[in-house]
Amino acid sequence: MVKRKIIIPFGLTLIFLVLSALAALGICAEEKQVRKVTLDPYLGQRFYESTKLIPDQERSSPLATYRKPELYKLYPQAKKISLPPADFNGISLEETIKKRRSKRQDDVFSDKPVSLKELSQLLFSASGITGSNRGLELRASPSAGALYPIEIYLMANNVLGLDEGVYHYSVSGHNLELLKAGDFRDRIAHAVMNQPGVKESAVVFIFSAIPGRTTSKYDLRGWRYVYMEVGYVSENIYLEATSLGLSTTAMSAFYDDELNNLLDLNGKDEMALHVQILGRKNE
Ligand SMILES: Cc1cc2nc3c(=O)[nH]c(=O)nc-3n(C[C@H](O)[C@H](O)[C@H](O)COP(=O)(O)O)c2cc1C
Repeated sequence: MVKRKIIIPFGLTLIFLVLSALAALGICAEEKQVRKVTLDPYLGQRFYESTKLIPDQERSSPLATYRKPELYKLYPQAKKISLPPADFNGISLEETIKKRRSKRQDDVFSDKPVSLKELSQLLFSASGITGSNRGLELRASPSAGALYPIEIYLMANNVLGLDEGVYHYSVSGHNLELLKAGDFRDRIAHAVMNQPGVKESAVVFIFSAIPGRTTSKYDLRGWRYVYMEVGYVSENIYLEATSLGLSTTAMSAFYDDELNNLLDLNGKDEMALHVQILGRKNE
């Protein structure tokens, strides 16, 4: 009688320990629980209605009174890497538009690196300062009110003359600021839902937004502009990459918080909006 009392709990404990060990080894993994969340199906429509301009109506929210964030984001403590001048003259715009294509299979990129000169050209074409008007610096991509809410970060995986790591593009200095050194391929691949081509790419661009730059002037309607503007910046990279003979693909399917964490963005004042992978063609 006494013996049975001891043996049964011991047997159960043994089974539990074996199953836990197998689960830890991934052999008998428990089925992952997916939390189901129901969203407001009219959220998009409400956003559209709330951001309409209507004659004879002054629509405002406290957003417009917020302090306007700086126009140029800088990481003063970061190591700076200067970029060579962007002076490439490529194929005609018409030819570029005709040739532009998204490529994202696993074998689309060669393992040959992208040069720092090419990276410089791409960044300049996306957001470089190309002119001025009444003391206001103007950039390669258009921006509502010239407020430029889009920031560009990049992960250098295979760039000649650039250590692997996460960088921020400083528009005002046309240089790179090193934020994190090291190989972040696995992290970015997971964040971008292991889409094909991410791990093999030479560069992963991450476009973020600082919406306050635009909403401080345009209030809630500014959110519309922010989402449009990331498209302009991304398209310029598409076109420049095509002109340089490189391969690229935009990617918007990603786990937002994983990208924000990687870039140390709080997801409120600044958040990742779009990703673009790029590399040399596998020819
Ligand atoms: C906003 C946006 C998001 C996109 N997201 C993805 C993505 O997550 N994964 C992907 O493989 N392609 C993505 N693409 C690329 C499109 O699939 C591609 O542009 C489309 O198939 C048309 O092909 P083309 O770019 O070669 O003309 C995205 C494109 C845009 C504009």
